[in-house]
Amino acid sequence: MIDRLGRNITYVRVSVTDRCNLRCRYCMPETGVPFLPHEEILRFEEITEVVRALAQLGLRQVKLTGGEPLCRHDLPTLARMLGEIPGIEEVTLTTNGLLLPGQAQALADAGISRVNLSLDTLRPDRYAEITRCGKLKDALSGLQAAQKAGMRVKLNVVPVRGFNDDEIVDLVRFGREHDCPVRFIELMPVGLGASRQGLSNAEVLDIIQKAMPGFTPFRGGKLGNGPAVCYGWQDGGVFGLIGAVHDRFCASCNRVRLTADGMLRLCLAQPDGLDLKPYLRDGKEGMQAAIERAIYGKPTGHHFSEHDTADRTMNGIGG
Ligand code: GTP
Ligand code: 5AD
Ligand code: SF4
Repeated sequence: MIDRLGRNITYVRVSVTDRCNLRCRYCMPETGVPFLPHEEILRFEEITEVVRALAQLGLRQVKLTGGEPLCRHDLPTLARMLGEIPGIEEVTLTTNGLLLPGQAQALADAGISRVNLSLDTLRPDRYAEITRCGKLKDALSGLQAAQKAGMRVKLNVVPVRGFNDDEIVDLVRFGREHDCPVRFIELMPVGLGASRQGLSNAEVLDIIQKAMPGFTPFRGGKLGNGPAVCYGWQDGGVFGLIGAVHDRFCASCNRVRLTADGMLRLCLAQPDGLDLKPYLRDGKEGMQAAIERAIYGKPTGHHFSEHDTADRTMNGIGG
């Protein structure tokens, strides 16, 4: 559907839980955050009802996110339910991968064709340090399981100064060798992200250019439905940059978000949205029209420095 600024909204990010089995230092405090009570979380039928309304308005792609989406019991069932909605063309997943070994085949069977896997480092000690409680070998097993099940995988890396900024080239090479393009995401000043220093895309590009020159924009720069700008080498290998802070991609933004507790959020960096619970649970009428109005009025955009986002955490927003 076209919003008031002429943007074509085709993509919804559905956060299925705010819980996570990791505690990445740029995302959550060690002790965790107060999680949503169980009864506040939308049931599969409720999520499906919302996505059906969105599909009627012309949305076509669904991204399942969290927290960690695989912490939600029986995610393949939800993936199947969403994939069967008329109009929905693609259901994909963004995960830390730890639970993929047990679930990859069921997810692929449920119609998930692509997975984005967060992998900030290739060093076991650093992985444990950044995630506080994860093991690198489990994430790598998840990657293998996804590929074995036939899903295409991309890696998400948040380059943070003093953590993993010396691994940029190693990660790009790893992605090339394992057929899983790496995308570098600028660290957003949301929650704990505000207390760390991320690398800009320009810095990342410069590092890759010096070590592995010769890349050119890949297929018009696009790979997937997100804001990543991609580059590739003629003899194979692709990487992408997500300018979450410095690129003002708001003018071409194609997405809305559904939080685990039923808020339709129109912009990552702005807290307001439409609470869908009264429609889903209290018999309030007119959800479709309310969603249409909300999407039509999607905010122009964001500038992180203009908004105080440090009091919220990324696990609750779904990235
Ligand atoms: P595909 O390209 O289809 O795989 O989707 P994607 O790149 O949107 O998926 P993913 O969930 O891996 O998102 C990658 C990163 O982009 C996440 O860290 C998001 O937070 C960031 N991102 C996604 N949408 C926005 C947005 O609207 N604004 C900003 N600033 N960042 C975003
Ligand atoms: N800035 C940028 N990316 C972040 N992620 C989590 N917190 C932040 C942040 N503050 C990333 C995760 C995951 C993706 C969904 O969001 O690493 O790959
Ligand atoms: Fe979990 Fe993702 Fe946050 Fe890491 S970044 S703690 S994997 S929600």
